[in-house]
Amino acid sequence: MKQLVRHLLKAWHARQAANTLRDLESRLRTPATRLAIPFIFRGAGFFKSIKPMQSQAEFGELYARITAMQPRRIIEIGTCHGGTLYLWCQAAHPKATIISLDLPAGEFGGGYPACRADFYRSFAALGQSLHLIRADSHSPDTVRQITPLLGDGKADFLFIDGDHTYEGVKRDFELYSPLVAKGGWIALHDILPRANEPRIEVWRFWQELKQQRPIAYEWADATPDGRAIGIGVVQVED
Ligand SMILES: C[S@@+](CC[C@H](N)C(=O)[O-])C[C@H]1O[C@@H](n2cnc3c(N)ncnc32)[C@H](O)[C@@H]1O
Repeated sequence: MKQLVRHLLKAWHARQAANTLRDLESRLRTPATRLAIPFIFRGAGFFKSIKPMQSQAEFGELYARITAMQPRRIIEIGTCHGGTLYLWCQAAHPKATIISLDLPAGEFGGGYPACRADFYRSFAALGQSLHLIRADSHSPDTVRQITPLLGDGKADFLFIDGDHTYEGVKRDFELYSPLVAKGGWIALHDILPRANEPRIEVWRFWQELKQQRPIAYEWADATPDGRAIGIGVVQVED
């Protein structure tokens, strides 16, 4: 009986979350105004939040650029609460393929419970294909699993926001950058050192990478909201 009540409550929260999202979308119609949606969305139970683990100011700059690019193929490493995934769906081409990877109970965020998957799928527009892969991004099997999902092309945009250790981010870059097309963008989140979180060492990898690849864009300044995290983007050379 308890299980049934829990199940019904979960289904009700899921429906409520989808309705809340559609309601926000009906009021905020342009990609620029939709930046706010995952930051203001409030649900209940397993669907409480889709808040990006991002500074809105920093992320907003990248989001505006990706919206202008309208990528046809996006790969994201680090789905978590679905906040950045929601915005990639808004920024992408109406017929885009969007692939988002996360390791259940992975470090630096904890992944997401399986019951949120249908809600995440509702982020995609009718013509878009959204693939949620719950696996270790560091495994060559995962790369083999996602490669055919790209069809006959490569990704225009790769967002790396999974394992934030030096070895972890480096491995993600090495495994997934070959899947990005010439001229495409590869973004790393958390490129600034954080004194209170020494395990986050994306900054070390970023310092190396920016010597080797052309920088498309770098945000590494203090933010108005006081949360400087940093986003760095390199471009795959033609
Ligand atoms: C910082 S969160 C992602 C936040 C999300 N991009 C946002 O801002 O809305 C990092 C996520 O990466 C996932 N992760 C950590 N290591 C991973 C790995 N080896 N493979 C796949 N996902 C991983 C964690 O489970 C976590 O959910």
